[in-house]
Amino acid sequence: MTQDEAKALVGQRAAELVEDGMAVGLGTGSTSTMFIKALGTRVKAGLKIRCVASSDASHHLGVSLGMQVVTLAELPELDVYIDGADEVGPELALIKGGGGALLREKIVASAAKKFIVVVDSTKVVPVLGRFPLPVEVVKMALPLVERRLSELGLRPKLRRHSDGALYLTDENNYILDCACGEIPEPEKTAAEIRGIVGVVEHGLFLKMATVALVAGEEGVTELRA
Ligand code: 5RP
Repeated sequence: MTQDEAKALVGQRAAELVEDGMAVGLGTGSTSTMFIKALGTRVKAGLKIRCVASSDASHHLGVSLGMQVVTLAELPELDVYIDGADEVGPELALIKGGGGALLREKIVASAAKKFIVVVDSTKVVPVLGRFPLPVEVVKMALPLVERRLSELGLRPKLRRHSDGALYLTDENNYILDCACGEIPEPEKTAAEIRGIVGVVEHGLFLKMATVALVAGEEGVTELRA
């Protein structure tokens, strides 16, 4: 099974878990795109749901598929949030934000009763940190935050597009990707990063995910915290 096939499989499985009448948070990224497309097919077939998206891209995708996508102000409590991840570690600790949507993703996830992570098996790791940890930063604070993250040994690098242009999030902030290596104590690292003035959010999602659906050669398996 290719990685894309695994993403499609787990996206489809997650879409099957959504029930009529639910308020659903839509994640961001290629796996979430598979999920949203599968959910869109169910909506076209008559499923009645309302959604809140974690990025402009997922918002537009949902709307293009005929889904009712509203704001968090209109729908502040969600039954479920379904999203991908860059890494899934022990106790369902996650690194997210590879697609740059970590801030809105964390906000929408925190509004949901249940957070289902959808990944292919390459994302499951014994210790977080192989994937660079994204940190979203207010523009003005960039030099300050960059220095503080370096002092913490987290090796930040400003995210750019392939043409060299600076990457901006949906909230118009910068992202510093921290190639920090293994993160043995995610709670400690999260607290250290959060303590820096000018950091808006970081990509460590701790004690948030309820269950992970993992697609691999043996089909879809479940991991619980
Ligand atoms: C976006 C994210 C994504 O969920 C994460 O990057 C995984 O993406 P993909 O499903 O494309 O591998 O956190 O900010």
